[in-house]
Amino acid sequence: MFTIHWNDCGFSAKQVRAVAKRLLFDVHQLHHVIQERMYGNDAASVILPFDKRHVAAAKVLAKKCGNADLVIVVGIGGSNLGTLAVQQAVTGIFDQRILYADTVDPDATHHIIDEAKRVLKSHGRVVLNAVSKSGSTTETIANFAALVDALPHSDHLHIIVTTDVGSHFEQFARSKGYDVLSIPTHVGGRYSVFSTVGLFPLAVLGVDVHRLVEGAHDALQRCLRKNNDNPALLLAAIAYLNHQKGKRVHDTFVFSKDLEGYGRWYRQLLAESIGKGAEAGIIPTVSVGSTDLHSVGQLDLAGPDLTYYRFVTVKKTQHDLHVPDGYDALVPLSGKSFSTIMDAILKGTQAAFKRHKRPFIEISLPDKSEETIGALLQTEMVSVMLLGHLLRVNPFDQPAVEEYKNVTRKLLG
Ligand code: PA5
Repeated sequence: MFTIHWNDCGFSAKQVRAVAKRLLFDVHQLHHVIQERMYGNDAASVILPFDKRHVAAAKVLAKKCGNADLVIVVGIGGSNLGTLAVQQAVTGIFDQRILYADTVDPDATHHIIDEAKRVLKSHGRVVLNAVSKSGSTTETIANFAALVDALPHSDHLHIIVTTDVGSHFEQFARSKGYDVLSIPTHVGGRYSVFSTVGLFPLAVLGVDVHRLVEGAHDALQRCLRKNNDNPALLLAAIAYLNHQKGKRVHDTFVFSKDLEGYGRWYRQLLAESIGKGAEAGIIPTVSVGSTDLHSVGQLDLAGPDLTYYRFVTVKKTQHDLHVPDGYDALVPLSGKSFSTIMDAILKGTQAAFKRHKRPFIEISLPDKSEETIGALLQTEMVSVMLLGHLLRVNPFDQPAVEEYKNVTRKLLG
């Protein structure tokens, strides 16, 4: 599990606990949803880590696909951001075995087609997984159609469609003989990472999805506690208090390049769940440390005081490097490890934020393992549901997104 340091969040323990107390009934409700396996409830995603069928379905199909040389995830928003978050954290941003076709950028999709053709030509295996809950998202269907049409069909190309039971996309996929994975109806896109939406492509890549879901399961046990040791209550209460104090921008400042995908996933989770009305809205941003200190650091420290920061750090990286001797004339760093240097940058940043009275917390991850990432994502999902209750908005719908989708479909006839 991870640790949350919140001394500098801008509020006293008493203030935070008073808000957390208002959420105890909501925590109780979530418990009930899990206990009764209420898949018809809007919060049904919290059942996923308790229901072994999802991991089993993902693993069985992944095994059928064998060792893939290339996985292409066709999907957008909630249908690919969870996969991207876990994949980047666990297998790294430089993993070339996976490509994402999200928007309709002809150059990008052309590149993906070329890559897939190259792999297939050298007798490699390609898994093409189209993910669309509705089955009617313009970008996803356009990319899927272009890829299916362009690639030579053989035993080396596996096509899998992940969609809602009964959608037109499911019927279409079955009529073509593609494998189909289903998404529980009340599990919305941005809450679906622990369904086959995320589990299947991750399992194909060799991510230990069992451990990922175990991490989420353990985190949920903590998120259902009705005492002070509940990370979701803590995160929701601190975010709410900062929002009420006028901190309308919530920046997730990840101090690991592999966590940028998680930052983008959280940005969607918060934006789509909470962005409803002038009062409730929070503007979520993502920064990468230390890179973005050299781009937005000035604004962060000396610009308008509108932002609440969440530093997300990793204690144990997979590798470490040391600065060799001979460079001390430039900066005295001989023998220092990169992790020591990064830690000094983080401490320096936090000291400066404190001096400038910028509120922040630190979410300190022990590592980027499946368990840790599973726990982090699950805690964030529960905390955003709770934040929705505090801000009196429905954290599960996205009417404005549907609006643009419908108009687009009409324009395209
Ligand atoms: O979180 C959401 O609900 C959205 O971001 C959707 O996931 C996104 O619009 C894609 O929709 P669909 O999965 O229906 O293709």
